[in-house]
Amino acid sequence: MQRRALIAGNSAGSPESVNGVLARFGFTRPEQVEDRDAAIEEMRDGHFDLVIVPVEGITPSQLIALEREIRRDANTSVIATAPSAESDLIVRSMRAGVHEFLVYPPKPEELAGSVERLMRRSRNDAERGELVAVYSGKGGLGSTSIAVNIAQAFGAMRSDARVSLVDLVVTGGDVRVFLNLKPAYDLSHLIAKGSQIDAELLNSLLTPCPGGVWALPTGDSPEDEELFDSAAVGAILDLLRTHFSVTVVDCEHHLSEATLTALDAADRIVLVTHLSVPALRSTQRSLAVCRRLGYDDSKLCVVVNRYQSGDVLPVKDAEDLLQTAVYWKLPNDYRLSAAALTKGVPVSLEEPGSKLARSYADLAKKLSGASTASGSFARVKDVQGGRLRKLFGTDKGVRNVS
Ligand SMILES: Nc1ncnc2c1ncn2[C@@H]1O[C@H](COP(=O)(O)OP(=O)(O)OP(=O)(O)O)[C@@H](O)[C@H]1O
Ligand SMILES: [Mg+2]
Repeated sequence: MQRRALIAGNSAGSPESVNGVLARFGFTRPEQVEDRDAAIEEMRDGHFDLVIVPVEGITPSQLIALEREIRRDANTSVIATAPSAESDLIVRSMRAGVHEFLVYPPKPEELAGSVERLMRRSRNDAERGELVAVYSGKGGLGSTSIAVNIAQAFGAMRSDARVSLVDLVVTGGDVRVFLNLKPAYDLSHLIAKGSQIDAELLNSLLTPCPGGVWALPTGDSPEDEELFDSAAVGAILDLLRTHFSVTVVDCEHHLSEATLTALDAADRIVLVTHLSVPALRSTQRSLAVCRRLGYDDSKLCVVVNRYQSGDVLPVKDAEDLLQTAVYWKLPNDYRLSAAALTKGVPVSLEEPGSKLARSYADLAKKLSGASTASGSFARVKDVQGGRLRKLFGTDKGVRNVS
């Protein structure tokens, strides 16, 4: 499909040079409007992949109007131009959400550089895989079992799917145990690389498992915790979702920075619970935290694990208590779960036709249905650091809410 561009005034330089540059990126002939007011008006009425506007002398109300349009359509890239690179103007434009700034008239190669960066950004956005975070405020309810087995189920769903499984349990995470991995590398190796992380390095550190799953286990050293700040974890998750159709994250049971980053970035959060009073109370608290963080209810998927018909607490009571519908129920099968864990294989490999294996597969199918409008890492970057303060009025990285 051809891309649409909108140019206000002569903010982009001579039409011949602009058209030439844009044509190389698959744009139709750009639409031209007289000034930035007209451009903002046009943005309100239709979608443009790229907008180029002059910002010299922009008034606060024009800036607010421009910001509103940029926020409304996340797939529009905006380049601002002005006769000189005035820092105050650049900062104000960037704060309003403008993506690139160029001195007018931009040289064709500068314009081409900006457009290339922007189109790469939107191309990546378009290809972003789903991110599913598995979380419970309480330990022992089955988070790791669910993360490992739905990752396997996502991989089995399509022969061309690539699934990554990330262990965010900093010290002594169990993903390696559940899959019997002896990885040469783990997440701390990746985080230690800092800004040098790229797709190639990432791929070389992931441990391939059967069935289209690549695992990123954690290490065993407690000092890793310090390396797990939200910027590092966010960058890794962001990279993973541009290279894998689905990324599944096994989160810690407390709201560490890493956990919050994963929850923020996730399209879906699987909140693991049991039909027992302590588990449900913990889930109630987790839901309250998620709502305080502004997550849409459609992002929150309460999964009752180890469900059996004889449960004392009916599902209806759990739903009343949690004030949300139970998204899925996974049957209780301790024998099979333990056997799979002992062998270090997913349940579906141990007993493919079992009720539990089928239930994991159907849960994965349901989760991969309609995706929610949700946080990309761009959003995570906006809010990182402020999250814990907002929740607890503290700068401390870790609070237990179970
Ligand atoms: N559907 C199930 N039926 C029966 N037993 C299960 C089921 N799912 C998980 N289990 C068992 O529950 C125990 C805890 O599971 P798991 O380690 O996945 O939980 P967790 O929440 O990740 O715990 P941790 O606090 O160690 O992180 C394991 O022994 C596992 O075999
Ligand atoms: Mg676990």
